[in-house]
Amino acid sequence: MERSLVLVKPDGVQRGLVGEVIARLERRGLRLVAAKFLQVPTQLAETHYAIHKGKPFYDGLIAYITSAPVMAMVWEGPNAIAAIRQTMGATRPWEAAPGTIRHDFALEVGRNLTHASDSVENGAAETALWFKAEELVEWSRDVDRWIFEK
Ligand code: RTP
Ligand code: MG
Repeated sequence: MERSLVLVKPDGVQRGLVGEVIARLERRGLRLVAAKFLQVPTQLAETHYAIHKGKPFYDGLIAYITSAPVMAMVWEGPNAIAAIRQTMGATRPWEAAPGTIRHDFALEVGRNLTHASDSVENGAAETALWFKAEELVEWSRDVDRWIFEK
């Protein structure tokens, strides 16, 4: 079972889209593992986006993600990494497929509403960065057997 960190970024929270993002992930069949609402400390933002340090958009990205509260979550499921990124849509909203969150609600790359982990390894690493082990809930749903083949 793959796990992904999902963030509803400050623009998504300010625009009242937390429920919309959660509803789409729930409807897809993904299972929520953890959630918290927080103002992101600069240190956490810099660690999370360390791979982008030095890029022209880095300072703006850190300012954006720390500008207001975010909803941080971990979601799991088979093929969760690819499935969630597909639901989010392409990084640049004008390239995102119709029906995706970024297509349906965003216009600018620097206001693209959500974050999702881009690999199984990063899903695990970002989950550990944002959540303590005891904040991760191991559970099952009665409906799991109708969504998960195994
Ligand atoms: P994320 O990490 O937030 O899920 O987004 P992503 O994988 O789709 O995109 P990534 O390449 O990791 O970029 C991280 C975030 O940086 C901002 N960005 N701005 N101005 C620009 O050219 C630019 N490029 C990236 C976006 O907010 C992007 O989500
Ligand atoms: Mg990324």
